[in-house]
Amino acid sequence: MKIIDGKLISTQLKEEIAKKVKHIVEKGKRPPHLAVIIVGEDGGSQVYVNNKIKACQLVGIKSTHIELPVETTENELLKRVYDLNNNTELDGFIVQLPLPKHINEQKIIEAISPEKDVDGFTPINIGKMVIGLDAYVPATPFGITELLRRYKIETAGKKVVVLGRSNIVGRPISILMSQKSDIGNATVTVCHSKTPDLMKITNQADILIAAIGVPEFVTADMVKKGVVIIDVGTTRVKSDQTKSGWKLKGDVKFDEVAEKAGLITPVPGGVGPMTIASLLYNTLLAYKKKQL
Ligand code: GUN
Repeated sequence: MKIIDGKLISTQLKEEIAKKVKHIVEKGKRPPHLAVIIVGEDGGSQVYVNNKIKACQLVGIKSTHIELPVETTENELLKRVYDLNNNTELDGFIVQLPLPKHINEQKIIEAISPEKDVDGFTPINIGKMVIGLDAYVPATPFGITELLRRYKIETAGKKVVVLGRSNIVGRPISILMSQKSDIGNATVTVCHSKTPDLMKITNQADILIAAIGVPEFVTADMVKKGVVIIDVGTTRVKSDQTKSGWKLKGDVKFDEVAEKAGLITPVPGGVGPMTIASLLYNTLLAYKKKQL
């Protein structure tokens, strides 16, 4: 078994982005600019957003952090989105999810200008991605394709099984991997909570992508020897072994599955670190498109 080191690959990707940003600034131009809106005080979201802002600083991307109180109304948030859509000094922005219950997430996503939608969540970007047009690919699927690409994992003609059909991971990665592209040309099966004989399907996978958010769901008897495992799960579970009192668990029972796998992403240190690097990549892309 070999580990797919997401921390290492994300560091390489960030270094490449930093070099490109440095080159832009050296030419006397303004750096790329990302804004992040967060509504309310969800602890997990605050950690993610702070990490996104820190990563921007690391690579030289300008960032604006907009923190709004939990009682912000849907109309107030829509107004913020319109303001950012019209801000010519801004290349891209994201609205951190989840939003408080009184705000319709889909309505907010649909208000984001597709040109600035560096999360790749708007229907226009998703639609473009589905038919293979140039689009912002959501961070986690992009991160997965980058790991497969940089580890030179063959996907053409392989059987890929995706566990989960979420809009931000399962659905887009299943589409990308079935497309006629370098990290594509695979035969993809999407499994979900209503899939019968799951074990029979997962046991045929050459590449298994687990994105269901159920800690340690995938066990050794569910996979064949030599499988490539991409574990997207990051569930916080209580732990008395850490200072913080919790630790991250993947969707895969790592120790037993790792013994059988050819390659496997750990949690933490696998897919997770790639997502922020992917957001920075999309921001640089948005900047470049604006300069054209
Ligand atoms: N919440 C969890 N992941 C994401 C993400 O990639 N983008 C946004 N906007 N919110 C999230």
